[in-house]
Amino acid sequence: MIILVAYYSVYGNTKQVAEAMSSIFEKKGTVRLVQVDKLTEADFNQVDLVVMGTPTIGANIPEAARPALAKLPDRPSIIASRTGSGAA
Ligand SMILES: Cc1cc2nc3c(=O)[nH]c(=O)nc-3n(C[C@H](O)[C@H](O)[C@H](O)COP(=O)(O)O)c2cc1C
Repeated sequence: MIILVAYYSVYGNTKQVAEAMSSIFEKKGTVRLVQVDKLTEADFNQVDLVVMGTPTIGANIPEAARPALAKLPDRPSIIASRTGSGAA
Protein backbone atom coordinates (compact mmCIF):
# COMPACT_ATOMS: atom_id res chain seq x y z
CA MET A 1 0.00 0.00 0.00
CA ILE A 2 1.33 3.46 -0.92
CA ILE A 3 0.15 6.41 1.18
CA LEU A 4 0.82 10.01 0.21
CA VAL A 5 0.81 12.44 3.15
CA ALA A 6 0.84 16.00 1.81
CA TYR A 7 0.92 18.98 4.13
CA TYR A 8 1.12 22.75 4.21
CA SER A 9 2.55 24.31 7.35
CA VAL A 10 3.85 27.77 8.26
CA TYR A 11 4.62 27.40 11.97
CA GLY A 12 5.23 23.65 12.03
CA ASN A 13 2.11 22.35 13.79
CA THR A 14 0.59 20.68 10.71
CA LYS A 15 4.02 19.35 9.74
CA GLN A 16 4.30 17.71 13.17
CA VAL A 17 0.88 16.07 12.76
CA ALA A 18 1.77 14.94 9.22
CA GLU A 19 5.02 13.38 10.51
CA ALA A 20 3.21 11.62 13.36
CA MET A 21 0.57 10.24 10.95
CA SER A 22 3.34 9.12 8.57
CA SER A 23 5.05 7.10 11.31
CA ILE A 24 1.78 5.28 11.96
CA PHE A 25 1.11 4.71 8.24
CA GLU A 26 4.66 3.35 7.81
CA LYS A 27 3.48 0.27 9.70
CA LYS A 28 0.94 -0.34 6.92
CA GLY A 29 2.94 0.44 3.79
CA THR A 30 5.15 2.90 1.94
CA VAL A 31 4.68 6.54 2.92
CA ARG A 32 5.51 9.58 0.81
CA LEU A 33 5.61 12.67 3.05
CA VAL A 34 5.65 15.78 0.87
CA GLN A 35 5.06 19.52 1.34
CA VAL A 36 2.12 20.57 -0.87
CA ASP A 37 4.20 23.10 -2.81
CA LYS A 38 6.71 20.38 -3.70
CA LEU A 39 4.14 17.84 -4.95
CA THR A 40 4.78 16.44 -8.42
CA GLU A 41 2.67 14.19 -10.63
CA ALA A 42 5.07 11.34 -9.77
CA ASP A 43 4.10 11.57 -6.09
CA PHE A 44 0.60 10.41 -7.05
CA ASN A 45 1.81 7.35 -9.01
CA GLN A 46 0.20 4.14 -7.74
CA VAL A 47 -1.02 5.87 -4.59
CA ASP A 48 -3.78 4.03 -2.68
CA LEU A 49 -4.55 6.74 -0.13
CA VAL A 50 -3.92 10.48 -0.02
CA VAL A 51 -3.92 12.39 3.26
CA MET A 52 -3.62 16.16 3.04
CA GLY A 53 -3.27 18.47 6.02
CA THR A 54 -3.38 22.25 6.18
CA PRO A 55 -3.90 24.80 8.94
CA THR A 56 -7.09 26.88 9.00
CA ILE A 57 -6.22 30.44 8.02
CA GLY A 58 -9.02 33.00 8.05
CA ALA A 59 -11.58 30.18 8.47
CA ASN A 60 -10.41 28.59 5.24
CA ILE A 61 -7.80 26.44 3.53
CA PRO A 62 -4.71 28.63 2.91
CA GLU A 63 -4.43 29.95 -0.65
CA ALA A 64 -1.02 28.30 -1.08
CA ALA A 65 -2.48 24.84 -0.40
CA ARG A 66 -5.41 25.09 -2.84
CA PRO A 67 -3.61 24.12 -6.08
CA ALA A 68 -2.75 20.79 -4.42
CA LEU A 69 -6.46 20.07 -3.88
CA ALA A 70 -7.02 20.19 -7.63
CA LYS A 71 -4.30 17.55 -8.08
CA LEU A 72 -5.98 15.00 -5.80
CA PRO A 73 -6.62 11.78 -7.70
CA ASP A 74 -9.90 9.93 -7.87
CA ARG A 75 -8.89 7.64 -5.02
CA PRO A 76 -9.67 7.58 -1.30
CA SER A 77 -8.52 10.87 0.22
CA ILE A 78 -8.61 12.41 3.67
CA ILE A 79 -8.34 16.17 4.00
CA ALA A 80 -7.59 17.43 7.48
CA SER A 81 -7.33 20.95 8.79
CA ARG A 82 -5.14 21.69 11.78
CA THR A 83 -6.70 24.56 13.69
CA GLY A 84 -5.48 26.46 16.69
CA SER A 85 -5.15 29.85 18.26
CA GLY A 86 -1.67 30.84 17.19
CA ALA A 87 1.85 29.91 16.31
CA ALA A 88 3.65 26.81 17.58
C1 LIG B 1 -3.16 34.68 10.05
C2 LIG B 1 -3.73 33.48 10.77
C3 LIG B 1 -5.09 33.19 10.65
C4 LIG B 1 -5.65 32.09 11.33
N1 LIG B 1 -6.97 31.83 11.19
C5 LIG B 1 -7.51 30.78 11.88
C6 LIG B 1 -8.90 30.49 11.78
O1 LIG B 1 -9.65 31.15 11.07
N2 LIG B 1 -9.39 29.44 12.50
C7 LIG B 1 -8.58 28.67 13.31
O2 LIG B 1 -9.11 27.76 13.97
N3 LIG B 1 -7.25 28.90 13.40
C8 LIG B 1 -6.72 29.94 12.72
N4 LIG B 1 -5.37 30.20 12.81
C9 LIG B 1 -4.55 29.33 13.64
C10 LIG B 1 -3.76 28.31 12.77
O3 LIG B 1 -4.66 27.44 12.08
C11 LIG B 1 -2.88 27.48 13.71
O4 LIG B 1 -1.93 28.33 14.31
C12 LIG B 1 -2.21 26.35 13.01
O5 LIG B 1 -1.72 25.43 13.97
C13 LIG B 1 -1.04 26.80 12.15
O6 LIG B 1 -0.56 25.67 11.46
P1 LIG B 1 0.98 25.51 11.10
O7 LIG B 1 1.77 25.53 12.39
O8 LIG B 1 1.07 24.17 10.44
O9 LIG B 1 1.36 26.63 10.18
C14 LIG B 1 -4.81 31.28 12.14
C15 LIG B 1 -3.44 31.57 12.24
C16 LIG B 1 -2.90 32.64 11.57
C17 LIG B 1 -1.42 32.93 11.70
